[in-house]
Amino acid sequence: MGKKIAVVGSINMDYFIECDQSPKSGETILGKNFFTSVGGKGANQAVAASRLGGKVSMFGSLGNDEHGKVLNSQLQKENININQLQLLNDITTGAAFIQIFKGENKIIVVPGANELTNRAYSQSIASELLNYDIILFQLEIPIETLEYLVPILYKHNKIIIVNPAPAKKLGDELLNCITYLTPNEHEYSTVTNQTGSMNEVLFKFPNKLIITCGNKGVLYFDGTTIVEVPAMMVDVVDTTGAGDTFTGAFTVAVSEGKSIEDCVRFGIIAAGLSVTKKGAQTGMPSIDEVARILKEG
Ligand code: RIB
Repeated sequence: MGKKIAVVGSINMDYFIECDQSPKSGETILGKNFFTSVGGKGANQAVAASRLGGKVSMFGSLGNDEHGKVLNSQLQKENININQLQLLNDITTGAAFIQIFKGENKIIVVPGANELTNRAYSQSIASELLNYDIILFQLEIPIETLEYLVPILYKHNKIIIVNPAPAKKLGDELLNCITYLTPNEHEYSTVTNQTGSMNEVLFKFPNKLIITCGNKGVLYFDGTTIVEVPAMMVDVVDTTGAGDTFTGAFTVAVSEGKSIEDCVRFGIIAAGLSVTKKGAQTGMPSIDEVARILKEG
């Protein structure tokens, strides 16, 4: 069993609409299919990590409503410790509205209760987080949460992983304290506040900045060279949650003390398997499925 992982992040109910075309402004179209599914970048990464053998606790907020109840029990079913979640009255659970068109998605998130994973909540969980080895964040919760917690965790030599989605500029102090940052190709420039080419930006963050580029694979700078790890070739059904699966899997591999390159490979296989099914968490693989692919080489 690897190190203990805490995920501090969002939990949402996802509303999926599959359609053959994307509506233009002012246009009404008919969709093909509608379904709801559990999601939220924080919860997705917690589930990905737990399915792959991580020892995971989830920190975040739910409304005291029907969605909150479903999401709460789903996290428990996934073997995730939820003792520190806050259940809040008078606010709705986070919700995401996801349009799937040609296997790609467009997402609008209404944060709801996730907005209250804020500084006050951070102060209430800070000492508990010191019992963990790795703390994983995303940016669907207020940035003040990271600004408060990350420097404290850094001082206690914790491994801090941030999947900076949706992208926001991170200050220099945060960037310095973060151990691994996993933006995608559209996010890295905003997050690091750098304007150069991808390689130039990678050179500035050796062994820290891990950029995911969809079906083009993953890149990072190891201090000597840019390492490019290719993506897995699969038939894509739905890419929702692929980045979450990558970061969750990467985190588990870090918790087991693997090299960065092996962590990236592990993440790529998990993410590759996840896009073959609809929904963010539905396709997230078990450790056996990933192990089988690793064995095949
Ligand atoms: O990354 C995918 C996730 O983004 C969805 O589950 C949705 O809830 C949004 O947070």
